[in-house]
Amino acid sequence: MTANPLSANSNASLISPEIDKSAIARATPPLKLGILASGSGSNFEVIAQAIQNQQLNAQVQVLIYNNPEAQAAARAEKYGIPSILLNHRDCKSREELDTKIVKNFQEHDVEWVIMAGWMRIVTQVLLDAFPDKVVNIHPSLLPSFPGIRSVEQALKAGVKITGCTVHIARLEVDSGPILMQAAVPLLPDDTAETLHARIQVQEHKIMVGAIALIADRPTDKNVL
Ligand code: GRF
Repeated sequence: MTANPLSANSNASLISPEIDKSAIARATPPLKLGILASGSGSNFEVIAQAIQNQQLNAQVQVLIYNNPEAQAAARAEKYGIPSILLNHRDCKSREELDTKIVKNFQEHDVEWVIMAGWMRIVTQVLLDAFPDKVVNIHPSLLPSFPGIRSVEQALKAGVKITGCTVHIARLEVDSGPILMQAAVPLLPDDTAETLHARIQVQEHKIMVGAIALIADRPTDKNVL
């Protein structure tokens, strides 16, 4: 009998497309990233770490966060990355927040925007300023379970496999061309917390893997 890569042990997963580690350090100019994060920032930190370990041909120009208590800011400090608080509560509209984000990213010479746990709905203002260059990570196998509480949605639906997705962002929440996905099987006693923790392990792999895919593109070609 052949081994099933998704047999229900807690480390099982399947990533597609496969992460091409040899592609990572090719001699294209480093991608200039602007990161958006709202909370813990663990996905932001794996990006910073991969760059520091020379596993990713990129540099983080700046982190923007929207919650004063976001732990992402402390992580940025640890890596010597500038961070800016743009509190959405100080803005009258989503467009106003995005206008400020665009201004700050442009001032920091950002080329690609990575929403690494960004809990705000983006507008055309951000998407138009960085066409096809805004990337999002979401804790489900899109197009299943977009929006909030996607881990709980998967549990409630009784699916046997869920996972995470890195994709190019479009206006509709959690939609757009998919760059990389990882599948994560549910275990019989899973809670939202245990399942999310296993999904996050895979998120950290595909977050870096998808940026490596982008970094490895020919400079005159779009990633799509
Ligand atoms: C991740 O699960 C991401 O998919 C979702 O928010 C979470 C952020 O985690 N959009 P972290 O802040 O990167 O630790």
